[in-house]
Amino acid sequence: MVSVDLYSVASYAGGQPHDQFAWLRSNDPVHRHPLPDGGFYWAVTRHADVVAVGRDPELFSSRPTIMIEGGESASPGDDHVMMLMADPPLHTRMRRLVSGQFTPRAARALRPRIAELATRIVDEVIEAGRCDLVSDLAGEMPSFVIADVLGIPLEDGRALYHHTEALHAAVEAVGLEAKQAAFQEMMAYAGRTYAAKRAAPGDDLASLLATGELDGRPIDEMDFFLWFLLLVDAGGDTTRNLVGAGMWALFQEPAALADLRSRVAAGSSLGSAVEELLRWVSPVIYMRRTATADTELAGQPIAAGDRVVVYYGSANRDAAVFDQPDRLDLTRAANPHVAFGGGGPHFCLGAHLARIEIEALLAEVVGRLDGLAPAGDPTWMPSNFVFGPASLPVTFTPAARTPADSALGARS
Ligand code: HEM
Repeated sequence: MVSVDLYSVASYAGGQPHDQFAWLRSNDPVHRHPLPDGGFYWAVTRHADVVAVGRDPELFSSRPTIMIEGGESASPGDDHVMMLMADPPLHTRMRRLVSGQFTPRAARALRPRIAELATRIVDEVIEAGRCDLVSDLAGEMPSFVIADVLGIPLEDGRALYHHTEALHAAVEAVGLEAKQAAFQEMMAYAGRTYAAKRAAPGDDLASLLATGELDGRPIDEMDFFLWFLLLVDAGGDTTRNLVGAGMWALFQEPAALADLRSRVAAGSSLGSAVEELLRWVSPVIYMRRTATADTELAGQPIAAGDRVVVYYGSANRDAAVFDQPDRLDLTRAANPHVAFGGGGPHFCLGAHLARIEIEALLAEVVGRLDGLAPAGDPTWMPSNFVFGPASLPVTFTPAARTPADSALGARS
């Protein structure tokens, strides 16, 4: 018997609690998990059940929230809803508004720009021979890319990304004031962007939203803020955490790192490596749903109104689906991981973009930073929602920047 506490931030202090997940999958796959306030939720840990919940929004609603906490007082009639917390058919209409910007083709069109950004990010550190892999390398890419997509300056993307860190961190780690301040800053910035984009719309996602309509009603400032928050938030530290925790995993497995290095040198696709790192790391720990009717899951009765929480990191180590699930295998062929969700309507909108960002950054980091090695242990994010290192000091052999860097710097 393993002592189970998937709610406490402390359980994630040294990585995801895979011993707890393994025990739950074998012994209690839909576990009645107590909460400190006396309440409870159902912790779902098997791959098949995680997928079943994600694909049934009628029975497992994203309203009123996808966080374990809260939602009790939300008004169902509120017309300002974040897409992540909307159900079909409203969700379908919302998603249609932006999905054109995130198709495989749209993501591929950004590939050259993303490759340039990766080069520039590595150039910023390469002469020093040391840096923090999380803040200096992994964190830069997603904040720059989402800034580009939204049509805001790269530097602002970086600042907003720091606010999302505070928003995601547990309140006991950063304090309520810091979280509220981050929220206010994001709101003020979104308000300014809304006004600016309406006054002079450009060819970018923020303009599309600021001047857009949903159900015949113009998108107002509050709607825009919720879109903005979702995009900056969802696209930011997920990708950073994947690269940070993925590199840490590779440092523990020198043979896998060497394999990745030779693939980069040969210019081969890193596709299966990216998928395996997604499975291995699972940067989003959970999503919550709320049962809309009495039902059952894997034989466990669930009542209408119960909270149902799916654990992606657990599903991604389920031996019923993955051969040798506790082995990091960058050549794994079949890899139906659920790091981007269980395949339902909320399946990660940015999945194509994220894959391109991750591949570009890994190629630059592994390909150009010779002798890359950790200079200490990572500290992990104080969160039970998103998983990844807060910092990871590394060293490498100093080298010269690319000559093209000056041209890139001038562009943005
Ligand atoms: C490694 C990187 C990423 C991971 C692991 C990840 C993971 C996820 C997960 C688990 C969900 C919820 C799925 C569900 O409920 O079924 C989600 C939704 C979402 N993601 Fe990502 N994500 C990543 C990167 C991105 C990026 C780069 C963007 C945008 C630029 C993005 C935008 C979104 C949005 C907008 C949603 C909400 C979709 C909806 O409600 O329909 N994500 N993501």
